[in-house]
Amino acid sequence: MRVGVLTGGGDCPGLNAVIRAVVRKGVGEYGYDFVGFRDGWKGPLEGVTTELGVPQVRGILPRGGTVLGSSRTNPFKVEGGVERIKANLADLGVDALVAIGGEDTLGVATKLGDLGVNVVGVPKTIDNDLNATDFTFGFDTAVNIAMEAIDRLHTTAESHHRVLVVEVMGRHAGWIALHAGMAGGANVVLIPEQPFDIEQVCAHVEARFEKQYAPIIVVSEGAVPRETEGEDGMTLVSGEKDAFGHVRLGGIGDRLAREIEDRTGKEARAVVLGHVQRGGTPTAFDRWLATRFGLHAIDAVHDGDFGTMMALRGTDIVRVPLIEGTGELKLVNPAQYAEAEVFFG
Ligand code: F6P
Repeated sequence: MRVGVLTGGGDCPGLNAVIRAVVRKGVGEYGYDFVGFRDGWKGPLEGVTTELGVPQVRGILPRGGTVLGSSRTNPFKVEGGVERIKANLADLGVDALVAIGGEDTLGVATKLGDLGVNVVGVPKTIDNDLNATDFTFGFDTAVNIAMEAIDRLHTTAESHHRVLVVEVMGRHAGWIALHAGMAGGANVVLIPEQPFDIEQVCAHVEARFEKQYAPIIVVSEGAVPRETEGEDGMTLVSGEKDAFGHVRLGGIGDRLAREIEDRTGKEARAVVLGHVQRGGTPTAFDRWLATRFGLHAIDAVHDGDFGTMMALRGTDIVRVPLIEGTGELKLVNPAQYAEAEVFFG
């Protein structure tokens, strides 16, 4: 059996841990050989491969990024893309694919699975917004990076009696903001699922200063003010869309800081954590989760259980149909947000 492996979409810590586990168990227990596809779906689309075996995965467990490279290539947006992928897999003698990705990469895997490609999915994203799994790997690392930043910002905000706004990633889902904000003791957490009222935010800011504390506001890049609710109200770096139709978000932190300064007269600054949240070494939790996802993914290949995605349920790894993970995003519900609200102001 020859198995192809690819990583697609935004990278995240733990991708290499999955690749290592897939290869180590695949070679050691099942005697498979592997081919690495470069840069997400671009690899099988253009037939760009790299050697992948036990020597290539040695030492990669703690490394961030992905040794296979990544891209946001969408083969369904390329003329004859599906046929080219099928032809390349056949030419390379690849019997099955392990696709490691988020909503877009696994969305492609879902459709290719329906078209007869033998594919197994592993859910990754720092955003933690894939359905059917309690957590995706990469999320815990991102939350810890954001929490550490918030801890540091508290001390400098106190010294200068300033408002500090921390913009974190999270296009549609506020999981990073919610978890990091709660762990870091934020004054306010603003997420895409709950359009915010700027007057309420300013009231929280004033209340925090009255208690002799400096406020820290954590905001997801996809958060929107109440008066411009919906995707059109998002703050964009650029309106240009990628192959999956996503615009580039960014700037809500600055926009908020300016607004707070104007309305409260308190000095406010913004910090954008950006790709720092996606870089570097994975936490122990993410290494553990990514490794277990990899082990179970190659078992699924061995069982011929294609069209499935690995998912964490409690402490168990289970297999679910790919469509369960990609059909709908997992968003923060109002009750979960209400828990964070207890600490606002
Ligand atoms: O999907 C993960 C993610 O990090 C989002 O939080 C963010 O909106 C997006 O990727 C940024 O993508 P890029 O690195 O391509 O700008």
